[in-house]
Amino acid sequence: MPEIPQPVLDEIKHRVDIAALVSEHLSLKRSGRGFVGLCPFHEEKTPSFYVNPERGSFHCFGCNAGGNGFTFLMRMTGQTFPEVVRELAEKVGVAIPESRAAQGQDRLAEVNRLAAELFQVVLHESKRGERGRKYLEDRGLSDETTRRFGLGFAPGDGWVEKLRGRDVSMGDLKRLGLVSEGRTGPYPLFRDRLIFPIHDLSGRVVAFGGRAIGETKGPKYLNSPESPLYRKGHHLYGMDLARDEVRKRGQVLLVEGYMDAIALSQAGMTHAAAVLGTALTTDQLRLARRFAEEIVVCFDGDEAGRRAALRAFPLCVDEVDLWPKAVFLPPGEDPDSVVRAGGTEAMEALIENGQSLIDFFLDDLVGPDAGVGETARAANTMAGVLAGVKDPIVRDKLVRGAAGRLGVSDGALLAAARRAHLEQRRRSPPSDAPGVAARSAPNRQAHVRFSSDAEMVELIVCDASVAERVRTEGAVGMIAEPVLRAIAERVLERRETDDYFEPLELLPDLPAAMGERVRRRLEEGAIGDVAARAADEWFAGHVRRSARGDRKTVIARLRSAEHRGDQAGVRAALEALKNGSALPPEPEASTVAETVAETVAETAADPEAGEGGYSPGLDEVPADEDLDLDYDADGDWVPDGS
Ligand code: UTP
Ligand code: MN
Repeated sequence: MPEIPQPVLDEIKHRVDIAALVSEHLSLKRSGRGFVGLCPFHEEKTPSFYVNPERGSFHCFGCNAGGNGFTFLMRMTGQTFPEVVRELAEKVGVAIPESRAAQGQDRLAEVNRLAAELFQVVLHESKRGERGRKYLEDRGLSDETTRRFGLGFAPGDGWVEKLRGRDVSMGDLKRLGLVSEGRTGPYPLFRDRLIFPIHDLSGRVVAFGGRAIGETKGPKYLNSPESPLYRKGHHLYGMDLARDEVRKRGQVLLVEGYMDAIALSQAGMTHAAAVLGTALTTDQLRLARRFAEEIVVCFDGDEAGRRAALRAFPLCVDEVDLWPKAVFLPPGEDPDSVVRAGGTEAMEALIENGQSLIDFFLDDLVGPDAGVGETARAANTMAGVLAGVKDPIVRDKLVRGAAGRLGVSDGALLAAARRAHLEQRRRSPPSDAPGVAARSAPNRQAHVRFSSDAEMVELIVCDASVAERVRTEGAVGMIAEPVLRAIAERVLERRETDDYFEPLELLPDLPAAMGERVRRRLEEGAIGDVAARAADEWFAGHVRRSARGDRKTVIARLRSAEHRGDQAGVRAALEALKNGSALPPEPEASTVAETVAETVAETAADPEAGEGGYSPGLDEVPADEDLDLDYDADGDWVPDGS
């Protein structure tokens, strides 16, 4: 998101005195027209780090690090670009204009703040909060702790009206997911629940978790959906409170749940943060790493926990120099129960006995006296992981460590990794899902089914993460049906350009049946993890389907080949239809799809066509009489003729 206008960035850059800035972190000596010092980014005894005040740049001839004031500060402090820009802007006295998006976010953050405050008042001061108070007391949380984490209580009714009475708009409540639109009208997300506000690093409330207590109806935890303030997998619960201690200790402790982070903190281990349930993501690892060298990840002691650890390893490998320690909890325990029973000593002892995730991964691959077959299999698995490592130095380090451990030569493992790399490239899109599913992994297999393209389009409408995945993997083209693909393209575009993208507003533009299904999905809250899972299935199913030359794809191809007058294409498609042979790769996006997409793009770009440069207008899409937008009642893809 281009938040800060270029001229403003230029002005800041222009005003920053890079020599003065660098001198705050290392000592510089004059050298010609610039300065020289010992490079802070690598070990050296003779200075090769040069600063050029005229150009506002630095360069190290030893390690090749280089850049301007912004990049220097980013590397030095681990802050992100927007953070250093803000810091430097303040330093040199340049005001950063707030973008429209930022203003909107501020407004939404204010709504969340008001809501959090209201929940806190209910918990601490009202009669209706008594159950919550009692519950927290039973769990041994002190008043100080509950206030530190800003816990609250959402009563069964009335709080939405209270917020409305404070000038909060219904639109904003819906954007934040605090209110959903149901069949019988809007209803509040949290009813009769203990509330855990989720803060970002600047302390803004970006989302909430709500825990059922006593006779509360519904799942144990309900969490805010994604919103302009909140992307799942981007935050660590409690990190805002933990960061100072994390820096001090050089260690961050990642746990699974809200209660774990809170209980550890109360016990004095204030360097804990929670990944919030199901997924440990690369983004979370990166976030943790900004503040500490050592990352300790707690996993459940059962089989699911082991699997989660094994799946976390490749994620870490993706990140240069990220070698977390894995701690396995005794079966049935979580960090909360461990500190409750054994105090911090018990938890520290577990951490002490933790194992490097790499060793754990390798140990899992080969037992102490593995035979040739087992070793070969292990080497191949490791090669598959190594194939994904982008940094050659990290790869080299891993290869040498792993080869020794596996008892194969470095060369052999490297060759296997190269083969795996080529293989992965050949197989293209569906690589790793955005998150590591720890909890739900075991019974995933039970209901694997194909998700149809139409269902996928619905998911793109409903769920920001799925849309993002389709966009980053460039997978829109995998949607065979031209009209469906055109819808998906438009929704993706709108999601990119509209900070207040609201799925419900799209309903009138969708084909009626699809609109109805989207509405139901949103009502049932079939987004988030549910959507991610369906998307996984779609990606996987697509690969299987295209391998077999799925009839629908083939028919779509046949049509587009006919349309193009591509005789060879028509013959290949007919052949594939007759005996299920694989189709040769399509020469280009089908002309039909292109025509539709172009038409749609034109109408969308036409400022007369509708507000915000976006036109409703599926009605204007040329109707293709053969297009079949139907799918069976469950949204499943049903193989024809089986
Ligand atoms: P747990 O079920 O282990 O809960 O889920 P917990 O944190 O130990 O909570 P207590 O101790 O029973 O009160 C771990 C985390 O998984 C997510 C939550 O983030 C929770 O903290 N979760 C769990 C959900 O999001 N939804 C659920 O229904 C369950
Ligand atoms: Mn627990």
